[in-house]
Amino acid sequence: MSARPLEGRLVVLGVTGSIAAYKAAELVRALVAAGAEVQPAMTHSASRFLGPLTLETLTRHRVQLDPLELLADSRIGHIVAADTADVVVVAPATARWMAAMAGGLADDVVTAICLATAAPVVVAPAMDGGMWSHPATRANAERLRGYGYAIVEPEEGPLASGASGRGRLAETAAIVAAVEAAVTGRPVRAPDAALRPPLEPERRGADLEGRRIVVSAGGTAEPIDPVRFIGNRSSGRMGAAVAEAALDRGAVVVLVAGTVSVPLPERAEVRHAETAAAMREVVLAALADADALVMAAAVADFRPQRAAEEKLTRRAGLTLELEPTEDILAEAAALAHERLRPRPVLVGFAAETGSLDRAVEKAARKRVDLLVANDVAEEGSGFGGDTNRVTIVVPGSAPERWPLLSKREVADRLLDRVAALLDARDASRQTGQATRSMRATEESRA
Ligand SMILES: Cc1cc2nc3c(=O)[nH]c(=O)nc-3n(C[C@H](O)[C@H](O)[C@H](O)COP(=O)(O)O)c2cc1C
Repeated sequence: MSARPLEGRLVVLGVTGSIAAYKAAELVRALVAAGAEVQPAMTHSASRFLGPLTLETLTRHRVQLDPLELLADSRIGHIVAADTADVVVVAPATARWMAAMAGGLADDVVTAICLATAAPVVVAPAMDGGMWSHPATRANAERLRGYGYAIVEPEEGPLASGASGRGRLAETAAIVAAVEAAVTGRPVRAPDAALRPPLEPERRGADLEGRRIVVSAGGTAEPIDPVRFIGNRSSGRMGAAVAEAALDRGAVVVLVAGTVSVPLPERAEVRHAETAAAMREVVLAALADADALVMAAAVADFRPQRAAEEKLTRRAGLTLELEPTEDILAEAAALAHERLRPRPVLVGFAAETGSLDRAVEKAARKRVDLLVANDVAEEGSGFGGDTNRVTIVVPGSAPERWPLLSKREVADRLLDRVAALLDARDASRQTGQATRSMRATEESRA
């Protein structure tokens, strides 16, 4: 048997209001050790026995506490859990919960998930001996078996009341074994992470401590006259997420903000630059002492050739002569490659609609280390929203498509790459310096 028999599986763990709820933390650890991703759900009573924060920290999933909850992306929490679970395990299961489930009463989130799911269900009851032997509970257990649920029988031993009897939650190993048996031979139901309940971003350490990162965010506004401009739909959310994530990882962040409609992190050094020309100036100046540049801003490609000095009045028609703006990323790359040592890491963004061919060509032409391409016409991607589905283009490698992620998670994964590139850059500089000083010593001896 494999050491990680639950690898790739989503286990939904329902916890109900028993004194044994604290053992759910140990069960999560065992399930995770067996390879599972675990989505916890708790009844309100359970959350009085065990803090949801404990399960959230262990699983990186928000605990579902109520059937009325929506996920951050507006999907219905218990339905997403039900539809994507490979197995639902309710441990510990109270007498009340078993009765609710036997009757199909979906007024707590754990029952709602079990009712809605097509996945196998494993139930591990825990209660006082009298409660377990009561004919009502016996009948409810039988009904659950009738639904095809696997019951992991409680054990004999000391109970919460101080008395001894049958009602103690089964050992963790027995529950994990039942979960593994329930999924054996079944295909993974939702291998695409985008369909599952979203994972909270992994906490990164201070791996960008001492780094200076320039991030551009938002759109640009190219003036037509003193009150009108040509703009775009960029909100600045992606750039702000990159800045926030870099700050959390210890970097000093210079945030070059174009037109933005989201709050900007206060800890960043914010420099406003609302036109392509202003942004070029600010970005190139900031690049001189930067370790990395992340150009997340959507800079206009064209601007009116001449902005009118006075407000234009209404007339039959207006023809604007447009001229191309500066290509800031290309200029930054030229400066970085030709003049800056050590060379800053360069990350570009490309908003495309449809094919990614242009992005692949653009990454090579612009001499960036990484290009983040997203199809802004695709649902869940692009301007304004909280999520993004991007493809990472590294010149010379096959494009890498990431699942639908929160913009913060995209930012963190991107910064993982930036941190690795910076570490590699510094390591090769040190080797280069050591080689040079060895040569110098040998030459002086010669
Ligand atoms: C200290 C304490 C321990 C409890 N332990 C259990 C238990 O192990 N099993 C059980 O069925 N009920 C137990 N109960 C009663 C349940 O918490 C109660 O029936 C509650 O309504 C269950 O809610 P839930 O099924 O929605 O989680 C306990 C109550 C207290 C105060």
